[in-house]
Amino acid sequence: MNILLAGASGFIGRHLSAALLAAGHHVRPLSRRHGADFSQLHSAQHWLPHLAGADVVINAVGIIAEQPGQRFASLHTQAPCALFDACVQAGISRVIQISALGCDDSAFTAYHLSKLAADRHLRSLPLDWLVLRPALVYGPGSASSAAFMQLARLPLLPLPDGGRQLVQPVHISDVVAAVLQALAQGVAGQSVDVVGPQPLRFADWLQTIRAARGQAPAPVLAIPPALLLALLRVGRHLSPLLQPDNLRMLLASRAANPEPLARLLGRPPLSPSPQLFFHADTPGESS
Ligand SMILES: NC(=O)c1ccc[n+]([C@@H]2O[C@H](COP(=O)([O-])OP(=O)(O)OC[C@H]3O[C@@H](n4cnc5c(N)ncnc54)[C@H](OP(=O)(O)O)[C@@H]3O)[C@@H](O)[C@H]2O)c1
Repeated sequence: MNILLAGASGFIGRHLSAALLAAGHHVRPLSRRHGADFSQLHSAQHWLPHLAGADVVINAVGIIAEQPGQRFASLHTQAPCALFDACVQAGISRVIQISALGCDDSAFTAYHLSKLAADRHLRSLPLDWLVLRPALVYGPGSASSAAFMQLARLPLLPLPDGGRQLVQPVHISDVVAAVLQALAQGVAGQSVDVVGPQPLRFADWLQTIRAARGQAPAPVLAIPPALLLALLRVGRHLSPLLQPDNLRMLLASRAANPEPLARLLGRPPLSPSPQLFFHADTPGESS
């Protein structure tokens, strides 16, 4: 198949691209690095020239924090909605949207709400759409994994409420496998939470990372979330991950059902194991 892959230069996009090529597909990459800026692609007319010859469109463009010229509304809502409209006009029926866990009725942050608006628009169109909602994705090349590894290295883990929030990280190879299976089986008209096999406490996730690095468990220091939120109002200038909304999303996180993903994959999603943190079994990755 000829696949237009928006976000091909990103963490998920790079793994997807390698796997799609290895599976014999043709991949047309699209991102700013490839000369296309979502902030300039807000109408279907803008998109139509990019769609010529494509059979499938996959959207894996996203940001975790706003910056000048990089706005949630523009990148997560306006450009993807225009892209999906253009797919209808161009007769490209198969569209896969990489959304995020929490883009549902519980959404309350600008990140989630802006992605949810695009997901809803896509679902309203006469297309063979698929919305994949990954939890935190880990594996080689992930900026967020790298940040959590830095945090996990500390001799004392300062965590909101002692890190009792539930997270359900999913390995990058399961995200990739979900896309490949969906393409192979023609799965459409579904929104699938792409999550690990079971939830674990955020503190246990960090201890799992420590174990993968050969480190003993570290003691945890419980920090009141209100104090951390106040600190992040200053710290957000240091890293895109240090946004107060990212902490709010962690505080609101809850378990998700892995069964729909297991049905799509034909097996349960992978359990975290030490080697998975540093290797991906997606083709083309050496880590
Ligand atoms: N990683 C996770 O844990 C995770 C979890 C849940 C959901 N997701 C979602 O999955 C998607 C991909 O995430 P990721 O981790 O692969 O992110 P990433 O590594 O930051 O990659 C983002 C991609 O978006 C592209 N992009 C950013 N701004 C753009 C613009 N203005 N115009 C065109 N392209 C632009 C980037 O390419 P250029 O910089 O070259 O433009 C890159 O290809 C996002 O929608 C994210 O919300 C990720």
